[in-house]
Amino acid sequence: MDKKIILITGSRKGIGRYLVEYYSGKEYKVLGFSRQESDYKSENYSHFCIDIGDDKLVKHIFSEIRKKYGRIDIIINNAAINPSISPFILIPADTIKRVYTTNVFGLMNSCREGIKLMIKNNYGRIVNLSSMAVKHEIYGETIYTSTKAAITSFTRVLAKEVIKNGITCNVIAPSAIPTDLSLTVDQNALNEVLKRNAINHLGRMEDVSNTIDWLIKDESNAITGQVIYLGGV
Ligand SMILES: NC(=O)c1ccc[n+]([C@@H]2O[C@H](COP(=O)([O-])OP(=O)(O)OC[C@H]3O[C@@H](n4cnc5c(N)ncnc54)[C@H](OP(=O)(O)O)[C@@H]3O)[C@@H](O)[C@H]2O)c1
Repeated sequence: MDKKIILITGSRKGIGRYLVEYYSGKEYKVLGFSRQESDYKSENYSHFCIDIGDDKLVKHIFSEIRKKYGRIDIIINNAAINPSISPFILIPADTIKRVYTTNVFGLMNSCREGIKLMIKNNYGRIVNLSSMAVKHEIYGETIYTSTKAAITSFTRVLAKEVIKNGITCNVIAPSAIPTDLSLTVDQNALNEVLKRNAINHLGRMEDVSNTIDWLIKDESNAITGQVIYLGGV
């Protein structure tokens, strides 16, 4: 198979869904992970119903992918959840575990199993989605923000480990893009936060795909361990 294989987590809706449609329309075979079924149909797209926090299931699905396709070229780790905004002392331990299980451990599951496949071809591109929240440190977002800070440090260290295998790892941190996730945030507070950016209005899906296009190019083999904030954060 000539087409590159790109895996997008959190593919059912929001930014992930946009990316699925965008890359399915190009010369890629797109694989998508999310917990629920997707209504997107394309001969270039295969959907897997999977909770990325379930490490055994992630391992199993990657082994199925290895059997069927023999490789993965690109992984966009996009799946994440954001609990409602709340002062930290009111957030139950179960909520913290749930958010960390998806945003941090799930992303690590996908990286670990994906890299095992990428190493075989001495090639790979990993792009992890963080957020402007890491820079803005927004009141009431301790858990979401700390998960995004964790994956940022994780990515930078991982980049050093796998560059010898031809694999780059980078982070894209969008500002705010209209999706279900950004609707969980108080919209007045969001507008106030946006005023701190050089670009003080909502971002676009195209801003994300444009940056990913650049990071996943073969020629971008020297770009690794970078954190790219969108919107002039
Ligand atoms: N939208 C923004 O303003 C914004 C700003 C900065 C950064 N980001 C980042 O961009 C990424 C996408 O955000 P979004 O706004 O598109 O979110 P969204 O609209 O809420 O979509 C989240 C996606 O993740 C999937 N998902 C959630 N938990 C999962 C799990 N445990 N396993 C597998 N899939 C899971 C969901 O599908 P299922 O429900 O079917 O699982 C859904 O497809 C996130 O990493 C987010 O932090 C977003």
